[in-house]
Amino acid sequence: MSHSVRITGTGSYLPKKVLTNKDLEKFLDTTEEWIFSRSGIRQRHIAAEGEFTSDLAEVASREALKSAGRQASDVDLIVVATTTADQVFPSTACLLQNRLDIHGCPAFDVQAVCAGFLYALDVAYRYVVTGASRCALVVGAETFSRILNWEDRSTCVLFGDGAGAMLLEAADTPGILSSHIHADGAFKDLLCVPVGVSTAYQELLDGRAYTEMQGKEVFRWAVSTLGDAVIEILESNGIHQSEIDWLVPHQANIRIINAIAKRLELSMDQVVVTIDQHGNTSAASVPLAFDVAVKDGRIKSGDKIIFEAFGGGFTWGSMLVQI
Ligand code: COA
Repeated sequence: MSHSVRITGTGSYLPKKVLTNKDLEKFLDTTEEWIFSRSGIRQRHIAAEGEFTSDLAEVASREALKSAGRQASDVDLIVVATTTADQVFPSTACLLQNRLDIHGCPAFDVQAVCAGFLYALDVAYRYVVTGASRCALVVGAETFSRILNWEDRSTCVLFGDGAGAMLLEAADTPGILSSHIHADGAFKDLLCVPVGVSTAYQELLDGRAYTEMQGKEVFRWAVSTLGDAVIEILESNGIHQSEIDWLVPHQANIRIINAIAKRLELSMDQVVVTIDQHGNTSAASVPLAFDVAVKDGRIKSGDKIIFEAFGGGFTWGSMLVQI
């Protein structure tokens, strides 16, 4: 049986430590002004030593459950999007499941880097819409600071740590209207951590698994691909952009966000922007931004929202939701 699927709860968590652009000037050949003008970032949060992705995920998840008025025992599916799992295995989803004292339901990670949360939402949506699940916990959580080369000014200034969570539940009234995810591995070298367990385990052990990016190329592809993705979602739902209340984009660069808003002919007052405060938190960025705008009252019941994200792979996705 097919159900509607609604977002019934939302939560987020940011590590306490804040690293400002001014702080970065102390150990990098960079300036506060360069970082802000090129990316829109003013600060980012950094996980403390001994604070792991599952720690961030747990706080965000408990908050999402609370906001939905649900108990952990109501959850029958856990999907965690992360690029920075605590361990090689078990998955961060299984670690989270154990923290929440949930037993037996499926729990797994998805890995699509910055588009990871859109992938996780897509999977969970399909479980709930088909009736395979009734209450899915979907989390994007990252300690991206751990895979940055803090001597590489062209990448390390852009990212931060954090987590966001949503609860998806079967409902009688519309919620998620459509979900679209894509990938093209032909672009694998433009944005990557080029080592892993199978290829260069020693480099992992030595802490030399770093994010590499050809910034200009990634920027160009992100703008054109996401522009096409938001048009795809409008066309497949037969709606005009004037019906959209909010854009909740992946927070990679304010200039990318501006370009997508322009493509949708949205004013920046209809775009949720957190990049100045969070930096790029990869899979956590969309649920973090959504949670901020729900909590401050901007996003209201009945609003139509587009989520979009783009990341290494390349991977990308978009979703149209009525709140
Ligand atoms: N501080 C000061 N100068 C820096 C710097 C920093 N932190 N990082 C790079 N530079 C320098 C570069 O070395 C370059 O110097 P050069 O011209 O002497 O070689 C100069 O600044 C210009 O760099 P450029 O790459 O032309 O800047 P840009 O306008 O493309 O902006 C990014 C750089 C990284 C902000 C931008 O390309 C970007 O946002 N790319 C996409 C990032 C992204 O979205 N990634 C994640 C997708 S999920």
